[in-house]
Amino acid sequence: MSSGLLYLDNAATSWPKPPEVAEAMCAFLATQAGNPGRGGHRMAREAAGVVERARSKLAALIHAPCAKRVVLTHGCTDSVNLSVHGVLRGAMRGGCGTKPHAVMTSIEHNAVLRTLSCYAKDGLIDVTLVECDGRGTVDPQEFAAAVNERTIMACLSHASNALGTIQDIGGAVKAVRSKNPDTLVMVDAAQTVGHLPIDVQALDVDLLAIAGHKGLLGPTGTGALYVSERAYPDDCAKARVFCERRGGTGAVAPGLEMPTTLPDALEAGTSNAVGFAGLLAAMNAKTESHHEHEMDLTRRLLDGLGSIRGITMYGLGGIEGRMPVVLFNMDGVAARDLAAGLDAEEDIAVRGGVHCAPLVHETIGTAPLGAVRASPGPTTTVDEIGRFLRVVDRYAFGMTAAG
Ligand code: ALA
Repeated sequence: MSSGLLYLDNAATSWPKPPEVAEAMCAFLATQAGNPGRGGHRMAREAAGVVERARSKLAALIHAPCAKRVVLTHGCTDSVNLSVHGVLRGAMRGGCGTKPHAVMTSIEHNAVLRTLSCYAKDGLIDVTLVECDGRGTVDPQEFAAAVNERTIMACLSHASNALGTIQDIGGAVKAVRSKNPDTLVMVDAAQTVGHLPIDVQALDVDLLAIAGHKGLLGPTGTGALYVSERAYPDDCAKARVFCERRGGTGAVAPGLEMPTTLPDALEAGTSNAVGFAGLLAAMNAKTESHHEHEMDLTRRLLDGLGSIRGITMYGLGGIEGRMPVVLFNMDGVAARDLAAGLDAEEDIAVRGGVHCAPLVHETIGTAPLGAVRASPGPTTTVDEIGRFLRVVDRYAFGMTAAG
């Protein structure tokens, strides 16, 4: 019997958003919704101010050396596409001589897997897949071992969206640099920005893809891509990211060429200014205690599910090295059916299936049906976790009795 929506799908998108998000978006639409950077009138200037404050806030959050190295996008998949297409096209335009090579891992999301694979399928690049272990960890040395003298790009998720396993990004980047200093390292930080402290300079990453609507608690349709000096030098003639999108940027209108300086070189068209108004409000509202609370709930989930007969959990044994994500299956019921039943009968939102990360499910033995993912958020309560565990226990008992 349902007692109100229990939302445990924060790894897909965080909900509820802080009330400040909707307030800021409504206020923006009512009074500031000019076209940012286009035109000199008050509303256009105010819209540009909001967008640039969001950019600066993101830059400070990830310790980017300057705000211009944060390119605003429509989401993390958009950022990954901008990176992968940009680096590959950049290399091909530069006449790289030999066939380019790229590295990806089995924990990657389809944003990376499918984008690199389409080039490989057309014979334009070679791709090496590095497998994670059964708990979702990618060994930095194995990652770097896949890099060769032709490797232009190596892609690694900061944390698996399915298992929550956090990767040693600093170690992986260091190992890649010692193998080939010219390889650009792209990190998909969809699941970690807003949760974990990230210093792109200390980690020495080249491209960092950010989602606005997950850990940052902003609206969907917002994201960003950090672009390092190595990937896009201030001497723009040596830029290694080439964006095929063309259009107005507001900054330089005459001429048939795109501006070559960041961020304009990689941002064409009117940005989602109302979305960035919401993201800015979300970042201002966010407190650092969220992650600690979510990890406490995750520990309760792991302990509770671990004591239910018929439940199999995947990934690391505890909360150490894990994001607030728990992946499990129940004997005798397919993941999608369990998630659908929890939704229809109990008003509980979890995600069942392969979570757009099909290869990690092959590694952990849950392909093709996948597993059920529960991911608490900042407003999830201890009581709600208790309710979830009682429901799962009841379902599991029912399956055992039926079996
Ligand atoms: N990438 C999102 C997820 O993990 C949608 O569910």
